Amino acid sequence: TYVVTDACIKCKYTDCVEVCPVDCFYEGENMLVIHPDECIDCGVCEPECPIDAIKPDTEPGLEKWLEVNTEYASKWPNLTAKKDPMPEADSFDGVENKFEKYFS
Ligand code: SF4
Ligand code: F3S
Repeated sequence: TYVVTDACIKCKYTDCVEVCPVDCFYEGENMLVIHPDECIDCGVCEPECPIDAIKPDTEPGLEKWLEVNTEYASKWPNLTAKKDPMPEADSFDGVENKFEKYFS
């Protein structure tokens, strides 16, 4: 599966949603997640994210994000169409420790 990492928090550009063939993105207030059981590993969303927030879970060190994606994909509503990024998206690009500070 692919996973959304904390880089997405407070940005939510949603270009990823537009290209997913199986509509497996779910939306929280500040972040999207991918449903690991629904993702077909096509990989097309990864290059679409302007801030590289999406990674294949085969990369090392992504266990935490796989857990976050798994947990919240079953709690948050499905998002199937692109929408405006968050108002301060550009200023949150590259900010550290977003999960601890801003996750919701
Ligand atoms: Fe959707 Fe493909 Fe990305 Fe999985 S890898 S979330 S199926 S676009
Ligand atoms: Fe987030 Fe990137 Fe999608 S910022 S909403 S993973 S395009």
